[in-house]
Amino acid sequence: MRVLLVAPPGAGKGTQGALIAAHFDLPHIASGELLRDHVARQTELGRAVQEHLDRGELVPDEIVLEMVREAFVVAKAAGGGYVLDGIPRNMAQARAAYLIGLELGMTANVALHLQADDSELVRRLLARAALERRSDDTEEVIRRRLAVYHEVTHPIVAWYAERGILVSVDAMRPAEQVGREILVALEVMRPLVDHVPEEARRPVDLTSLGVAFGAASSATPS
Ligand code: AP5
Ligand code: MG
Repeated sequence: MRVLLVAPPGAGKGTQGALIAAHFDLPHIASGELLRDHVARQTELGRAVQEHLDRGELVPDEIVLEMVREAFVVAKAAGGGYVLDGIPRNMAQARAAYLIGLELGMTANVALHLQADDSELVRRLLARAALERRSDDTEEVIRRRLAVYHEVTHPIVAWYAERGILVSVDAMRPAEQVGREILVALEVMRPLVDHVPEEARRPVDLTSLGVAFGAASSATPS
């Protein structure tokens, strides 16, 4: 199973990525975590990217693509599956990650999109700020991260829909409920993904499930 997550800050990439990785025994490749680890260790790379992270701006594509390549090589040796969290972040990264995947025979077979409203995302990240110390969890930087998401990251969702590998879920509900829905969908898809060519697949939209089961409908999903 090769899953990548496309979702705004606070939607649950880390939370659900860890769940999927544990459930399917896959490496969880999280670009933000890898970058923050470099910053914490004050490596040369960490010093080069710190300011980008602190301001909520993307770090240069070459840096994350090199990370993807390295992580894919390790993942390939461990069986070839992965959960990619935080990459790709723009169209250039999406195309480049696809090419790296092609070269290594490990392109993503599910692009999981978590939808949530900006107001809920800000609320979650400010709540986290009270507990953890992430330099980018201030209201001003959270709003910048959301703006970057809407401007350059969200457009890649349509590309995955065209490729037929998109699965969209409503991430406004409690994390356990969202996680259960994701695992059920992935379990059902798992036997098929390696056998049904992308061009024969259709995007899977589970976002109305929350409303169907009584959750408030979201006016501005992202
Ligand atoms: P990154 O670390 O990826 O941060 P982000 O995208 O801003 O997202 P977060 O990690 O804040 O949120 P999440 O979606 O993982 O949600 P989580 O599960 O933690 O990137 C950080 C920075 O690194 C970027 O700004 C950029 O500078 C750089 N970067 C990274 N990748 C890059 C790339 N490819 N190219 C260029 N630059 C890159 O949940 C958030 C909180 O909400 C938690 O407290 C959680 O407990 C809670 N929560 C989760 N789900 C729910 C739920 N359903 N209900 C209620 N609470 C919930
Ligand atoms: Mg995260």
